[in-house]
Amino acid sequence: MRDLASEFFRRHPELSLAALGAADNARAMDLNPLGCKAEFFAAESHPELVALYRESNALAFPGELSLPGWVLSDLYLLPGAIGLLTCEARVLDIPVRKRLGLRPDDRAIAAAYLGAPTIHPGTFIGVSLLSLVPRVLAGAWVKALTLRMLGASRLRGVAQWQNPSVRVHTRMGPMRVVSSVPGTHEFKAKSFVYESDLSDEATWSSAMQRRYEGPIDAKIQATDHDELGRVLARAEQGERILIIPPGLDAQGRVLLRFEPS
Ligand SMILES: CC(C)(COP(=O)(O)OP(=O)(O)OC[C@H]1O[C@@H](n2cnc3c(N)ncnc32)[C@H](O)[C@@H]1OP(=O)(O)O)[C@@H](O)C(=O)NCCC(=O)NCCS
Repeated sequence: MRDLASEFFRRHPELSLAALGAADNARAMDLNPLGCKAEFFAAESHPELVALYRESNALAFPGELSLPGWVLSDLYLLPGAIGLLTCEARVLDIPVRKRLGLRPDDRAIAAAYLGAPTIHPGTFIGVSLLSLVPRVLAGAWVKALTLRMLGASRLRGVAQWQNPSVRVHTRMGPMRVVSSVPGTHEFKAKSFVYESDLSDEATWSSAMQRRYEGPIDAKIQATDHDELGRVLARAEQGERILIIPPGLDAQGRVLLRFEPS
C-alpha cells in the first residue's frame, strides 16, 4: 500500500493530503499515513477551509442530503477530522470552480471523506465521500488515506446500490452486506449498510489494484430493489454475503458472493 500511495502522489503532484478537524484531534491521528505527509488544519483557525468544505460537500450532495452546519461542527469536526485531497482551483473543471467562486490559484478541495468514530474501538462509519476531480481515483485514495490517518481496522457505511461509489468502496476490498439502513435515511429504500475489513493489508492492496479475484455467485441489477431486498433479509438473518470487487459491472449489476456458513 505504501508503494501504491507514493505512486498515486507521483502521478498527481497537483494533489496534497490534509485533514480538517478540531485542533485537539491532531495528536490522535497518524499524519504520515502510508508514508504520505498530511497537513493538519485546525478547524478553529481555518474557518475559510471549513466553509469551502461545506460548499464542496453541497455540490456533491445537493438537496435532501445537504449537510447542516451544526452536523458539520458537532459530528464531523469535533469528534475527529475530515480527510482531504486539496489542490489549486485551476485543477477543477471550470464550471465547478466558478460555482465555488474560486480563482485559479485559490486552494480547492479535490476530494474528501469522513470516518466517524464509533463505540467499537477501531471501527469507523464512512460518510460523505466526495470527489470533484473524476477519473484519477481521488475518491479511492482520499478514502484509503483517511482511514489510515484514523487507524481504522473496520469500516461500516451506507451506500446506494446504483451509485458508482460502490466501485470506489470495493477498492478497499470485498464489502460485506450487513443490513438495510436503520432509521429514516432519505435514501433508505435504495441503500444498504456494508462493512469492510481493513485489517488485511494484502487484500486491501490487491483490491486497490483491481487484482482481487473471487468467485461470483449472483449478478443482480442495482435497480432491482425487490431482489436486493431479499439479499438484505438473508444478510440480516446472519448469512455472510459479499460484494465482490469491482462491485458493479458494466451492465449495472451488483456482483455478489454467498459464503457458506
Ligand atoms: C462517487 C465519487 C466520490 C467518485 O469520484 P471519483 O473517485 O473521482 O471517481 P472516478 O472517476 O475515479 O471513478 C471511480 C469508479 O467509478 C466508476 N464510475 C464513475 N462514474 C461512473 C458512472 N457514471 N457510471 C458507472 N461507473 C462510474 C469509474 O469507472 C471508476 O471505476 P473503477 O474504480 O473500477 O475504475 C464522486 O462521483 C462523487 O463525489 N459523487 C457524488 C457524491 C456521492 O454520491 N458519494 C458517494 C456516497 S456513498
